Amino acid sequence: MSNGLEDVIAAETVLSDVDGLAGRLVIRGVPLEALAGRTTYEEALFLLWDGFFDDLPGPKELAARLGAARAKAFATVTDTAGLEPYDAMRALIARQPDGNDLDTALALAAAPAVFLPAVLRRRDGLAAIAPDPSLPHSTDILRMLTGKLPTAEKAAALDTYLVTISDHGLNASTFAARVVASTRAGLMSSVLAALGALKGPLHGGAPGPVLDMLDAIGTPQNAASWIESTLASGERLMGFGHRIYRARDPRADALAAALERLKSTGNVDATRTALAIAVESTALAALKRHKPDRPLLTNVEFYTALLLEALGFPRETFTAVFAIGRTTGWIAHAREQALTGKLIRPKSVYVGPVPRQAA
Ligand code: COA
Repeated sequence: MSNGLEDVIAAETVLSDVDGLAGRLVIRGVPLEALAGRTTYEEALFLLWDGFFDDLPGPKELAARLGAARAKAFATVTDTAGLEPYDAMRALIARQPDGNDLDTALALAAAPAVFLPAVLRRRDGLAAIAPDPSLPHSTDILRMLTGKLPTAEKAAALDTYLVTISDHGLNASTFAARVVASTRAGLMSSVLAALGALKGPLHGGAPGPVLDMLDAIGTPQNAASWIESTLASGERLMGFGHRIYRARDPRADALAAALERLKSTGNVDATRTALAIAVESTALAALKRHKPDRPLLTNVEFYTALLLEALGFPRETFTAVFAIGRTTGWIAHAREQALTGKLIRPKSVYVGPVPRQAA
């Protein structure tokens, strides 16, 4: 029995390889550092879905079909008043088709990208902005969010983010997607299961709290005392530690580089990044003292928080933005699992009371 299924191998995949000791991520044979910052969202979509749909067109036509899927998704936006943005987005996704074909996959890839900006604008009393199918996906997301065409640097930074987090081995949400796909349910059901798993703070829910931590610390001078007292009270530092990585999470480097590029073009608040860099180095030193036997290093969420804040996403939506990128991987994994034809059904060990023997 392995609590948390740690080190248990539950699938073979051609999609991504996470080498925790080396701190290396490979997506379909390409190291992350060769993808992030050089690949658009649409190209990554093609890379991950290639081989899983018989009728998958080339990247250019795929981009056009994705644009059309955004327009179609927008037409299904309905009132979600009273729901938090993540739950509102999920509720709208639950109304998407539940097939296993390419059109369903495109509808599901388009859905969170369209629904999140629409839900946010409606929450703030503004009209939702319709997608422009002719624009690249990342450019259109930022336009639907803010009402203006983003700078090329900002659109490129969102591409880097979405590509960087598009797939990551058998993480909790991807496993949830595969479990559902193994029952031969449709892709929407897999994506919904994954969205449930992603919501928790130990998975996709950490980046919002990273900004809360930076706000609570306030200035670089306060970092050491705040971090020490947080660790002394038994709390965790958000944005640090990982189940698999014992070296630095390569995604943190990819996103830190994207943030640096935004900074050099004047698209980021320099005080914020200076605070973040001071907090990161203080936290790493404190975690080393706190848990000398377990490497606890910066994970993807730390720089996700800073990058998404710089792009104008409110912190309570960071997990939903993660879902925009990871849906690509969930769909590929769901297809890969379904193709094995095997139902996922592990066993449990019963440790409850035994029936009494009759006298
Ligand atoms: N801050 C402080 N201590 C931490 C820590 C953190 N961020 N992450 C792990 N630890 C400590 C735990 O308290 C635990 O100590 P213990 O053995 O004394 O109980 C030990 O390290 C092992 O933690 P565990 O939860 O068993 O490891 P895991 O592999 O299951 O945890 C995470 C992985 C991601 C859940 C964990 O590192 C964490 O909670 N990080 C903060 C949340 C976060 O950033 N999530 C995003 C992940 S991409």
